[in-house]
Amino acid sequence: MIERVLVTGGAGYIGSHIAVTLLRAGMEVIIVDNLSNASELVLDRIEAITGRKPLFYKADCRDKQALQGIFNTHHVNAVIHLAGYKAVGESCEMPLMYYRNNLEATLVLLEVMRDFGVDKLVFSSSATVYGDNVSMPVREQAPTSVTNPYGRTKLMIEDILRDVVEARPEALKVALLRYFNPAGADESGLIGEDPKATPNNLMPYVSQVAIGKRQKLSVFGGDYPTEDGTGVRDYIHVADLASGHLEALRWLDEVVDLHCCQPINLGTGVGYSVLEVVSAFEQVSGRQVTYEIVDRRAGDVAVSYADVTLASELLGWQAEKTLEDMVSDAWRWQQRNPDGYGRS
Ligand code: NAD
Ligand code: WQD
Repeated sequence: MIERVLVTGGAGYIGSHIAVTLLRAGMEVIIVDNLSNASELVLDRIEAITGRKPLFYKADCRDKQALQGIFNTHHVNAVIHLAGYKAVGESCEMPLMYYRNNLEATLVLLEVMRDFGVDKLVFSSSATVYGDNVSMPVREQAPTSVTNPYGRTKLMIEDILRDVVEARPEALKVALLRYFNPAGADESGLIGEDPKATPNNLMPYVSQVAIGKRQKLSVFGGDYPTEDGTGVRDYIHVADLASGHLEALRWLDEVVDLHCCQPINLGTGVGYSVLEVVSAFEQVSGRQVTYEIVDRRAGDVAVSYADVTLASELLGWQAEKTLEDMVSDAWRWQQRNPDGYGRS
């Protein structure tokens, strides 16, 4: 039985919601995060939501000694590995920084897991590994390709994990969770996405326009072959995403197949356009979201949404929350924490 889970990057946006879900399920959570893109205050918020505080180590996953110390102190049953950099544009400007951080953090973690006999790993992959050459909805067997260094780190890590499992199938089982577009926040409004600079992603950007921090949204492209001409994505509530991780852990605990390194889509299976998201936000917030249609953003695909059959078959999991839930929870978080953590 899985009792103690180490969550790398657990102080971040998705990791903090996963911590809440695991604590609620009665598991012990150990967060390892270097706080390069997170605030320590999230720990108090997690405690306020769940009544339990995760253990926290401020450490870099590339620091082998630090990881060894943590694995030595705690008998870890499984690892959820989220630590890494995630901004597509930044990865094009600073590819080496992305390869160094995302790959090395994973390699060091895998070595320490091997040395301590920890045999279950859930990895944060991304729908970005499907590139732009596939028909939708996309299944896990679809060919992979990437258009930027960030995406390439995900694909490279998936390959590394396959090799490690292949070499010693009895020593490691892996779920490669390919997230579609995470959005929303915990319904308490206490934890949520806290972009340090100008948001790259649609939902936090729209939210900042609605609250008046930004003047208008640039809609990247109005001439896609979609119903209203704007890009379509599979937005998934971060709380649903978190419960997908819990189910993935339970599945890994039971699965008897050797050679287990299984990609699994986590999405809703439904796509919404940029203008549908804008309209949902206006309805929920009662504020106007001013926008202007501009050129397409380089590297964007027209449409992306998941085939979620496998997640349902293997994990018995499916997303439950709606676009309205995502928008109203994101809006509650934005209103209660207009400047994110620390200054609210
Ligand atoms: P985030 O930046 O909020 O969380 C990542 C966390 O990792 C941060 O708290 C950061 O401080 C920490 N971190 C980075 N490098 C580290 C290192 N070397 N050692 C220790 N900690 C380190 O991002 P998120 O949105 O919560 O994403 C979590 C994971 O999910 C990432 O791997 C990301 O690539 C992946 N993912 C995110 C999305 C998305 O749209 N948010 C989509 C698909 C996949
Ligand atoms: C969604 C839609 C944009 C901002 C990215 C990464 C992917 C994954 C999730 C990590 C698109 C449009 C956006 C804006 C806009 N992350 N948009 N104006 O691009 O689907 O995926 O985040 O793994 O790897 O690439 O998400 O939220 O940036 O964009 O019109 O200011 O909103 O063109 O159609 P994307 P997004």
